[in-house]
Amino acid sequence: MSTDFKSVIALALFLNIVIFFISTETSADSLVKDPARASADSSAPLLRVNENYLKSVRPIFESKCFDCHSSHTVHPWYYSLPLVKQLIDRDVKEARADLDMSKDFPFLGKGTPTDYLDVVRDAVNDKSMPPWRYRILHRSSELTEQDRKTILMWVDLSEKELGAEEK
Ligand code: HEC
Repeated sequence: MSTDFKSVIALALFLNIVIFFISTETSADSLVKDPARASADSSAPLLRVNENYLKSVRPIFESKCFDCHSSHTVHPWYYSLPLVKQLIDRDVKEARADLDMSKDFPFLGKGTPTDYLDVVRDAVNDKSMPPWRYRILHRSSELTEQDRKTILMWVDLSEKELGAEEK
């Protein structure tokens, strides 16, 4: 064999090994995206639910809920007042313990994905969120009719998506 031919084979082998490692790495990556789920197949509905969340619901939550339910709190100027600071800090702590939106869907907290869908539906239906004490100071934070429709549609669709998965 000529040395040229040998080096072509060596190069081909080398590339094969590189490609092997790249491909095993990406398939491992797609699994760790959702460590709560053992197989990539059963996580597909959750990923779709999150995709829809990112598209339609997250923009609403980002502007109207993140101040309390995420690590992206934007503090108002009056936050520096001693008593106010404590009240806001407590609010954010309680809100995040229940439902933390920092990492998209499923939210972080005590519940399962379907628990979160249930409590979000309740909060939208009874108009309890954002709390009035927040709304009076952030007037544009109230959910509009359109917001509520969008969120409820997402909840319904997501329940179907996740319910279908369990059967
Ligand atoms: C001023 C801070 C604040 C804002 C803004 C806020 N929340 Fe809350 N949220 C809380 C607190 C505090 C709790 C926990 C105690 C309670 O129910 O009042 C809570 C609880 C909840 C719960 C109930 C969780 C459970 O386990 O029962 C849901 C659902 C919820 N919020 C959704 C929202 C949504 C959706 C928005 C935006 C439209 C929002 N919240 C905006 C403070 C806030």
